[in-house]
Amino acid sequence: MVVTAVATSVAAKDERPNKRCTGGFVDEMRSVAMKLHTKDQSKEGEKETRGKPWPKWEPTIDGYLKFLVDSKLVYDTLDKILDQADFPEYAEFRNTGLERALNLAKDLEWFKEQGHIIPEPLSPGLDYSLYIEELSKNDPQAFICHFYNTYFAHTAGGRMIGRKVAAKILNGKELEFYKWDGDLTLLLQDVREKLNRVAQNWTRDEKDHCLKETEISFKFNGDILCLILA
Ligand code: HEM
Repeated sequence: MVVTAVATSVAAKDERPNKRCTGGFVDEMRSVAMKLHTKDQSKEGEKETRGKPWPKWEPTIDGYLKFLVDSKLVYDTLDKILDQADFPEYAEFRNTGLERALNLAKDLEWFKEQGHIIPEPLSPGLDYSLYIEELSKNDPQAFICHFYNTYFAHTAGGRMIGRKVAAKILNGKELEFYKWDGDLTLLLQDVREKLNRVAQNWTRDEKDHCLKETEISFKFNGDILCLILA
């Protein structure tokens, strides 16, 4: 009897489509996000690739700096929103260990020391920051969708892109943006559990509203990513 139970639970675990799927509402968020990838970005992607497939991107330092500056603005804005906590559930997501703004500040300092001029933020980062700031004041489900997509995307495709760009234009230097204190898998799991807890209090309509926002998050985050090629 015991053996059967153990065997069943192992089988169930192995049938998970991906180690990043761990149950609860976050799996729904992930599933919607994965379908919005193009086929060259992920084998789970359902969208056709337009333009150059990402592995063939030809990044420039200028473009990458624009991307880092705009990303920092967005992560600063996310921190600010969570600190303010217009809705009490936002406070759950403070100090998760996923924060990126300080790491990005160190990277920009490093580029400056190398003699590069750090650009001002551009409309992709400015527009997105304004958008999430406004949204966070009256639409917690939609805001949390942006929180999830921005942070989790960076730990997945974002890292792959970082490695590729570093190999192509930074002599393989690993930026602080791609380093976390502690075990990233555990940090992510902790945030997934928090997201699932918060979403437990949502109605089905609120959950669907959150999922619907994914597309907008892809649009804004995609525009920021494209700065790499600017
Ligand atoms: C060139 C662009 C991109 C590439 C190459 C890429 C690639 C990937 C890959 C391969 C995964 C699966 C990782 C895994 O299962 O281990 C993933 C996950 C994910 N991506 Fe992207 N992605 C890109 C852009 C985006 C954008 C613009 C967003 C939206 C903000 C996004 C959101 C996500 C999310 C939420 C996940 C799930 C992460 C998790 O389960 O923890 N991605 N991406």
